[in-house]
Amino acid sequence: MSGMINDDIIEKVNDSSDLVDIVSKYLSLKRTGGNYVGLCPFHNEKTPSFTVSKTKQLFHCFGCGEGGDAISFIMKMENLSFIDAVKFLAREQGIPLEEGSSIDKELISQKEKIYEINREAARFYYYNLINNEKTLKYLKDRNINRKTLNRFGLGYAVDSWNSIYRYLQGKGYSVEDIEKAGLIARRRDGSGYYDKFRNRLMFPIIDTRGRVIGFGGRVLDDSMPKYLNTQDTIVFTKGNNLYGLNLIKDHSNRERIILVEGYMDVIALFGNGIDYGVAGLGTAFTPNQVKLLKRYGKEIYICYDSDTAGIKATMKTLKLIRKEGVEPKIIVLPSGKDPDDFINEYGLKEFQKLLDESLNHIEYEIYIYKKKYDLSDVEDKIKFTKEIAKTLRGLKSPIEKDVYIDKVSMDTGISREAIQKEVLGKKFNSSTTIRRDKYINGKYRDNKNEIKPIKTVLEPAHLTAEKTLVKMMIKNRNYYNIIKEHLTMEDFFNYECRTLVGIICDEYGNNQELVELDSSNLLEDLKGYEMDVNILGQIIDGNTEFLPEDRIKLIDDLVKTIKYYNLKIERERVTKRIQEIESSRDSEEGVVEEFKLLCLKLTELDKKLKSHI
Ligand code: UTP
Ligand code: MN
Repeated sequence: MSGMINDDIIEKVNDSSDLVDIVSKYLSLKRTGGNYVGLCPFHNEKTPSFTVSKTKQLFHCFGCGEGGDAISFIMKMENLSFIDAVKFLAREQGIPLEEGSSIDKELISQKEKIYEINREAARFYYYNLINNEKTLKYLKDRNINRKTLNRFGLGYAVDSWNSIYRYLQGKGYSVEDIEKAGLIARRRDGSGYYDKFRNRLMFPIIDTRGRVIGFGGRVLDDSMPKYLNTQDTIVFTKGNNLYGLNLIKDHSNRERIILVEGYMDVIALFGNGIDYGVAGLGTAFTPNQVKLLKRYGKEIYICYDSDTAGIKATMKTLKLIRKEGVEPKIIVLPSGKDPDDFINEYGLKEFQKLLDESLNHIEYEIYIYKKKYDLSDVEDKIKFTKEIAKTLRGLKSPIEKDVYIDKVSMDTGISREAIQKEVLGKKFNSSTTIRRDKYINGKYRDNKNEIKPIKTVLEPAHLTAEKTLVKMMIKNRNYYNIIKEHLTMEDFFNYECRTLVGIICDEYGNNQELVELDSSNLLEDLKGYEMDVNILGQIIDGNTEFLPEDRIKLIDDLVKTIKYYNLKIERERVTKRIQEIESSRDSEEGVVEEFKLLCLKLTELDKKLKSHI
């Protein structure tokens, strides 16, 4: 059969198949220490001498001497050619075979050349480093010893425009190839080439087959950019690789893997005895990188820097990993620290403690929200409950939901019922809730659990307007009928008022004869809600006697007041988001689009606000 396989597919097959799994389909393996043994399928034996190494992804039979990797195992087992064995495995792993593509000999040899150049470069950088006192001192100051330096093959790119260029040319490599490796770049005026990495500490990025695929380079002072990374090349795709994976493959028992943010974090962990750390390569984390994590660690831990950016990145990566079907754990560092700082300052034991105390995604979110909100503040407490409820709502198992509702309640002192109501939302007593929605504004409202920003403190006029309207609705069904023409439950920002509106709608909706509502019935309905009794009292026991004579005019004014403040709150939210975008200098396409929309929205809001005055 002719070949329809390219190097990429071979690589993918090698990277995604686990030899222990493959062999296990043919014979039963038993684990002994780091290896697996079984009865050799290639010769007759009664005592097992067929050994599979999980870490090396190789097999060997001490009885008959057969040995090799996944592809050669399948070749022998299925009696297939090399190409057909690759296809066989590709099919098993669900790797698509591109019809018509053949083994691209040209590309393979091109890649080989780049690997070779990279290896030469790494050697050269290494040699420079061990002869450079300044950089050695830098490493020493950062607590990196000679053994760790060697393990990672660290190097130093000297402060020169043509050092690596001349060295590699001297070794006989062509300018084109050196450029393809990403080590040199063409001068703007076209007059020649210059070294891309100058006066930098060099981190070779090595794949699981021990090939140098690219470099990261760090400045030795505070100049910018702090890190420079090889651009993507024919052998290097940042989103498909992780820093430190080569060492994981050799060292780790693959029980655990820790994802950190930086090169230095991987190195510091390794130097302190944690040899199962890896880092992304300076770009956003990708699903392919999640697959690598899954392959090299049964349990995945995230340990990012504990600054704002790190928390944001943790949330994002967390989502991505969970989407791939794994529940990672999060190691939380004290504020302002990264793994490197922490382990060098407090040592391995303390780090292991953090590892033991690592959080699952729910626990992590609770932790983050608890930091964000002041639970002694009523408004904040409500926001907190809503945020957490949003998370808990996403849990599939009702038991899990229940457990976490308990946990949040215990952690925060918020009543179990209040959290439950938020979490279960509509489903909790659904018949009345749907009616409640229907009765507001006469149209069915799809509650997407969108949380409107509740201002920490409502303007007094705003709060009074809400309270007065609620009071009037309770006292008189006609008022209720008029008000519901203009406002929905979501138009009320005060928690007490909003909750009451929902209940009022239920009450009138359930009983067409009612002309006014009984306050003790309302209080009964409010059981289980966490309410500010002060506000509640002002509304329920409130007198409507001394309200102005013209009640219809009053309702009209109050509705206007509420609409006005709602516009203002909305405006505040929009401007805040605009400021956020402006200060983050994020230029992603989606953000630019959002920015434009927000500006339009702002103009529209200003117009509406003006018409209110
Ligand atoms: P950090 O700034 O946290 O770096 O960036 P670090 O690894 O902890 O290094 P030290 O401790 O300050 O020396 C985390 C990672 O983000 C990428 C690099 O991969 C870095 O390791 N990065 C950072 C860049 O690619 N470019 C930069 O300019 C900065
Ligand atoms: Mn750091």
